[in-house]
Amino acid sequence: MRRRDFLAGMTAAAGLAAVAGPATAGAATVRSGAAQTTARAAASYPPADSLRALAAHVNLRIGMAVSPFDIATTTPDYNGVLKSQFSTATPENAMKWDAVEPEQGVFDFTDADEIVNFAEQNGMLVRGHTLLWHNQIPAWVTTGVSNGTISASQLKEFAFQRIQTEVSRYRGRIWQWDVANEFFTDTDPSMINPQDFWIQNLGEGIIAEAYRLVHQVDPHALLFYNDYNIAGEDGTNAKHDAAFAFVQGLLEQGVPIDGVGNQGHQDTQYGFSGTFQQDLAHFASLGLKVAITEADVRTFVNANQIPTDSLAPSAQSYYYTQMLYAALEVPQVISFTFWDESDNPNVSWVPGTFPGEGAATLWDANLNPKPQYFAVQQMLNLAAHAAPHHVATAPF
Ligand code: XIL
Repeated sequence: MRRRDFLAGMTAAAGLAAVAGPATAGAATVRSGAAQTTARAAASYPPADSLRALAAHVNLRIGMAVSPFDIATTTPDYNGVLKSQFSTATPENAMKWDAVEPEQGVFDFTDADEIVNFAEQNGMLVRGHTLLWHNQIPAWVTTGVSNGTISASQLKEFAFQRIQTEVSRYRGRIWQWDVANEFFTDTDPSMINPQDFWIQNLGEGIIAEAYRLVHQVDPHALLFYNDYNIAGEDGTNAKHDAAFAFVQGLLEQGVPIDGVGNQGHQDTQYGFSGTFQQDLAHFASLGLKVAITEADVRTFVNANQIPTDSLAPSAQSYYYTQMLYAALEVPQVISFTFWDESDNPNVSWVPGTFPGEGAATLWDANLNPKPQYFAVQQMLNLAAHAAPHHVATAPF
């Protein structure tokens, strides 16, 4: 039935409507006379056929993981692609604990400030990422905890001091915060990972306390739980079930949580989840918002980042558009973020993390758009001109 909407949309998609400029990219189609003039003046930027402009028709924000490199580089034009194609920014590393407090008590927000300022200048909302995660904790913390010079109560004090400092610095400027990240393992998702750094040292209650603190400091930010393989990518849906029960438990305790992010890291060797859309809708049934937070689709590649299987790119396009289709079909999905701007091994996290795999993004290593980009663009174009079934609440 929904597909019919898309097909009907295709015939309606003869021409593209004027699209709001950066400052209003998240708003629905502009209707008032004065606003129409503004929209026309800004119609060329971002381009009407950009991902962000097409998605603005259906109130979906399109995001990118952002590093200082992306902002600084204009040849090829990472900066230009970023601001013309995306309406949200997630600092890829700049807001993680090791980045903001490399030495005890010495905070450094240089990169995070740069990214937040860039986002605001270009009409992009910011996804804050991330406050409680077992990775990218500064060495002074992990060393101190393992050699016993940092006690459990000190760990909690330092962690909450950092959360307080960071969240208050950006109060009112963060759309969504990934408060807790990746608390389940793939091997046994039946419970929160008892070996997780935070759980092992401070117990499960630390998670609820963190949400309460962030909400107290920045009451308008939407607070998310973020994880990967929680929309059926594991083949059994066990991780989804665990994450669902976990967030349901938080809600029952009155913990201020507003949404669930499925990272969306896909790999062509594992097949595409048969329950992706159903699982997003399941999270939404709890009254939560939903986001795809780190979408990429990796595959096996040669040394030049070229897929070893000539059919891989079409599979990757399929995975991307299936994820996006599901997001479009579930009205509570408010944003869809891609993880990394090109296949350049210095830009994409995939080649360094999954040896032998890569080609995971929408742009090749020289920042040329790949078929995956055009597949995503086409899906958004159909959605933009189809029946208005994606009615996500506008941010703020
Ligand atoms: C990755 C970054 O992309 C890399 O640059 C960094 O070296 C490691 O972290 N899940 C997450 C992200 O929540 O923060 C991770 O980002 C990718 C997996």
